[in-house]
Amino acid sequence: MRSLAADLGELARIGADPAGGVSRFAWTESLERANRWFVERLEEVELAPELDTAGNVIGRWEAGDGKAVLVGSHLDTVRRGGRFDGALGVLSALEAVRILKREGVELRRPLWLVSFNDEEGARFHTALLGSKAFTGDLDLGYWELAGVPQAMAASGRSFDRLHEATAVDRVAAFLELHIEQGPVLESRGIDLGIVTSVVGLLGFRARFRGEANHAGTTPMGGRRDALLGAARATAALRDEARKQDGMTANVGQIRVEPGGFNIIPGLAEFSIDVRSQSLEGHRRLESWVPELLTEIARDEGLEVELEETQRVTPVPLDEELATVLERAAGAEGASTLRMASGAGHDAMVLARNVPTGLLFVPSRGGISHSPEEYTAPEHCELGARVLARALGELLTQSKETA
Ligand code: HGY
Ligand code: MN
Ligand code: MN
Repeated sequence: MRSLAADLGELARIGADPAGGVSRFAWTESLERANRWFVERLEEVELAPELDTAGNVIGRWEAGDGKAVLVGSHLDTVRRGGRFDGALGVLSALEAVRILKREGVELRRPLWLVSFNDEEGARFHTALLGSKAFTGDLDLGYWELAGVPQAMAASGRSFDRLHEATAVDRVAAFLELHIEQGPVLESRGIDLGIVTSVVGLLGFRARFRGEANHAGTTPMGGRRDALLGAARATAALRDEARKQDGMTANVGQIRVEPGGFNIIPGLAEFSIDVRSQSLEGHRRLESWVPELLTEIARDEGLEVELEETQRVTPVPLDEELATVLERAAGAEGASTLRMASGAGHDAMVLARNVPTGLLFVPSRGGISHSPEEYTAPEHCELGARVLARALGELLTQSKETA
């Protein structure tokens, strides 16, 4: 009989990165292989599999009537990511289906299991593409600019058909289990997190243009050093985030041109990821980041270009589903803590359309987006059991609400 631990181990080998961790990106062979592997698991539990036009994989347990309860997460990863981020949410939902079937639960409404495509946006800064397509929140203009049509065509799909993936009007509620990716649960010795809200995300691609010149002969006073602008921006973002409650800032990617050790960089292109738990903080960052870069450009004699790559406002999750998750956790004797999520999730997209619940399991050392990412088997199993109980309650309720 298959088990959650075996599934996690098998899946981790698909897209295993020689440099460590897992790299499974949207529209690439490694994620296609993971999707095919997942379709086989769905067929084993007799959920009718479908690969939709946005690259989402959906397994349907058609039963009862009315709108479906949707459960799942994502199988794509960041570069050299861990083997639990997203994967545990999909595989614990699969395990929950196995539990419900073993217990012979009679569903009064359909259950759909989903793996959303490109949650991480690791290739094109197109995070949450699959769940956005599923809810009809299509960023077609930006996705086209980012290169998605070519990547889709190369994997045999059509950009023009993305809109056909929209199916959220047939969903009553969404549940997602995810690793916490932070230190809170482990440091307090608590088994499960009941997530109350998800952080707002703002992403940018920034370019400073200065003047490539000789590193040895150009007077220090007259340089227009693009990398120095990027370094000042990185430090200023970090300093501001340290001052502002609920804010984080990160520059994860940077490249300079021409890239010689003895040439003053004429171009610096870098990513900016800023987040805020409050709508007010999020709105403030929308203007604060461009103002910061404009000021640095003026001070350093640089030109600046800033392109937005992501904008998702913070979102509260459903109170009723939080209570359902808490009740299910209590029935399993698990301790719980209500908490906000500092990471983005597909749940933040679904939550704008249907009642949505998010359940966290502890991350060892709070580490994630790293080959060191780890969650103990007992927490993985507990999460799956609690998910099964919560789904059981939602799927056997007669009333139309979630
Ligand atoms: O970036 C995030 O917070 C998520 O892991 N995609
Ligand atoms: Mn992630
Ligand atoms: Mn994730």
